[in-house]
Amino acid sequence: MGYEVTPWEVKGKIDYERLIEDFGVSKITPELLERIRSTAGGLHPLLRRGFFFAHRDLEKVLKDYEEGRGFFLYTGRAPSKSPMHIGHLIPFLMTKWLQEKFGVNTYIMIPDEEKYLAKKVDSLEEVEPRVRQDILNIAALGFDEDRTFIFRDTEFIGRMYKAAVHVARHINFSTAKAVFGFQGETSIGLIFYPALQIVPTLFEHRRPLIPCAIDQDPYFRLQRDVAPKLGFYKTAELLSKFVWGLLGPGTKMSASEPETAILLNEQPETAVKKILNAFTGGRATKEEQRRLGGRPEICVVYHWYTLLFEEDDKKLAERELACRTGRLLCGPCKRELAERVKRFLEEHQRRLKHAEKKARRMMYDGKLASEMWNWEFKPRQPLQPY
Ligand code: TYM
Repeated sequence: MGYEVTPWEVKGKIDYERLIEDFGVSKITPELLERIRSTAGGLHPLLRRGFFFAHRDLEKVLKDYEEGRGFFLYTGRAPSKSPMHIGHLIPFLMTKWLQEKFGVNTYIMIPDEEKYLAKKVDSLEEVEPRVRQDILNIAALGFDEDRTFIFRDTEFIGRMYKAAVHVARHINFSTAKAVFGFQGETSIGLIFYPALQIVPTLFEHRRPLIPCAIDQDPYFRLQRDVAPKLGFYKTAELLSKFVWGLLGPGTKMSASEPETAILLNEQPETAVKKILNAFTGGRATKEEQRRLGGRPEICVVYHWYTLLFEEDDKKLAERELACRTGRLLCGPCKRELAERVKRFLEEHQRRLKHAEKKARRMMYDGKLASEMWNWEFKPRQPLQPY
């Protein structure tokens, strides 16, 4: 089918319409967006511009909120060989927005074993410096420190293991193989790992909502089979597309191919150079571009404006028009983006300096973190479908 999307591999040019059908998720409709807008009192640009494009049970989350049952947020990041890139921030920025709008608890898993079990890194030691760096990157975003719990698996496993055993008992190998495409050479650690990624959906007896890119859906498809059997809610999901890499439309930004990505720990000047080399929707010559106009729909630079670097819809529309009519050439448009990305990185790197204390509170002694270090899993009566 020309592309592949699994939690460990994303390749080729993705047909998102097709993926919605293959994965059995629902499209976010204009009506649903309106409901979010009225319940949240606004719409994040990543929602109103369709980057978060699909979901499961989002309408039920809104109903739970409106009727006072509430919900909670859960997302995560698996540290790898390479540092986080700007694309990895997207689910966290969305999660933070939702936390601010709805005032709900947020759980952030750092599976420090996942990439090792998936054979993406050669040793656990190799991941170690990234674990700390990734946690600081996330902590620097400014989550509510008393309502957020950040935990790494190798440390929090004692609290999660019992729940993982219950989850794992309900998933048989044929199902896991069909969902994840496990092969004979897959490590048995990776085969068990999905049970762990499901555990945080059982942290509260409320509906979880998971903001993430669509590659993570297979885990939560399984969760939706298992959770009701343990007396817990099926998880809801808010799913995004993938941020394009710098070298072409529809490609995935990948930290292991640094020329495609802006890394969060990058020297701002290096980032500027990368943006100036990015693929655009421009024409072969200036003359041609003035005559025919540019093509924002295939332009990586425009894509990045829409995601993180132009919040104002009116200004974005003006930029698009100026491009299409040949008034705006790629040089100045790229330079302006490069400047914004540079400022963004400088600001993020400045915030990192104060992130250590925030991370400690969210991992150990903030209100939610302290409670979670005493959390105990108790299975409940199976839930009626709800
Ligand atoms: P990981 O570390 O591969 O990715 C972290 C988050 O970033 C999303 N993502 C992207 N989003 C936009 N554009 C991209 N190019 C891009 N690449 C990755 C991923 O979907 C993910 O949300 N198994 C997970 C870690 C995890 C987790 C979770 C994720 C544990 N529990 C709960 C989401 C929800 C992982 O390897 O993510």
